[in-house]
Amino acid sequence: MLILGVETSCDETGLALYDRQAGGLLAHAVHSQVAMHEAYGGVVPELASRDHLRRLVPLSREVLARAGRTFGDLGAVAYTEGPGLAGALLAGASFARSLAHALGVPAIGIHHLEGHLLSPLLSSTAPTFPFVALLVSGGHTQLMRVHEVGCYELLGETQDDAAGEAFDKTATLLGLGYPGGPALSRLAESGRPGRYKLPRPMIASGDLEFSFSGLKTAVLTLLNKENKTGGKIYPQNLARDFVDAVVGVLVAKCALAMQRTGLTQLVVAGGVGANSQLRAALNAKGKEVGFDVFYPEPELCTDNGAMIAFAAALRLEAGLSAAATGPAFGVRPRWDLAAIGRP
Ligand code: KG4
Ligand code: ZN
Repeated sequence: MLILGVETSCDETGLALYDRQAGGLLAHAVHSQVAMHEAYGGVVPELASRDHLRRLVPLSREVLARAGRTFGDLGAVAYTEGPGLAGALLAGASFARSLAHALGVPAIGIHHLEGHLLSPLLSSTAPTFPFVALLVSGGHTQLMRVHEVGCYELLGETQDDAAGEAFDKTATLLGLGYPGGPALSRLAESGRPGRYKLPRPMIASGDLEFSFSGLKTAVLTLLNKENKTGGKIYPQNLARDFVDAVVGVLVAKCALAMQRTGLTQLVVAGGVGANSQLRAALNAKGKEVGFDVFYPEPELCTDNGAMIAFAAALRLEAGLSAAATGPAFGVRPRWDLAAIGRP
């Protein structure tokens, strides 16, 4: 069945076509709104919704043309039902639900994080169930035990800021623009380790919880102190210690999760999963203590429609999705992945 995937939970409009029988992922396209929001130092929800509305139809036509298909070939339309920005979600949901209604095909609402954590299964080297998933994005930092499609158990999560949020806020403090995660990571590459002594929050707490808000505060305190005393700041060394702190905590908690669950496969998903220092450190830890690490293809690490179409395909194959039709619908800006369960 040919499935159109629609992702609009934040600042990327993602459209994709997936059909397992026809070879899997046939086409995908993403429009990033980063340049539009940059001037404001963060995502402006109203602008995000309006831009999604502008992009949805042209991007759908683009992926259909690339795959040599038409709207009439679609067997289902999947869209991100939550979590995310309410207006942005509504833009994608109204488009997807109206299109499905007009075509007389099912519309399938997908949990954004389910999309992220199943996306490594689209790779040529894919994990098999069960596995542990580390979800690290701008809005989430969670460790999940994935029993099978639709069955997710929360092992631990951040008590405050997400890892990506800590990256972005610290990058702003260092004047690196928005979103600063990738720029901060690049700056760290030329930094020397151990020159600053930032905290490694909750690294020895003995549980699978995280806390990242103190790190950004520690960076701010350090910058203020050096400003007052006229001390010189070495941004690349500071960036290096920040990255080492975040990566150190994430790796320690992942290793603990693998040990506690006894599982041997770790899936890393979400925007921060693109981070090269995190990948290198997780791969090394996996080799050292005996687990394999799986990532989505690089272009599928950040938000995209492919993961939404693919999650819908897996749910349909597992007989899970309550495929919705009809004109009434809603979105879920706040939605707990562990609560989606199996019907
Ligand atoms: O999953 P995502 O595209 O969007 C959601 O938050 O759902 O993740 C975006 C986050 C941002 O905070 C961005 O700064 C971070 O992922 N990010 C990175 C890197 N690439 C993206 N953080 C560190 N290093 C990177 N290379
Ligand atoms: Zn995301």
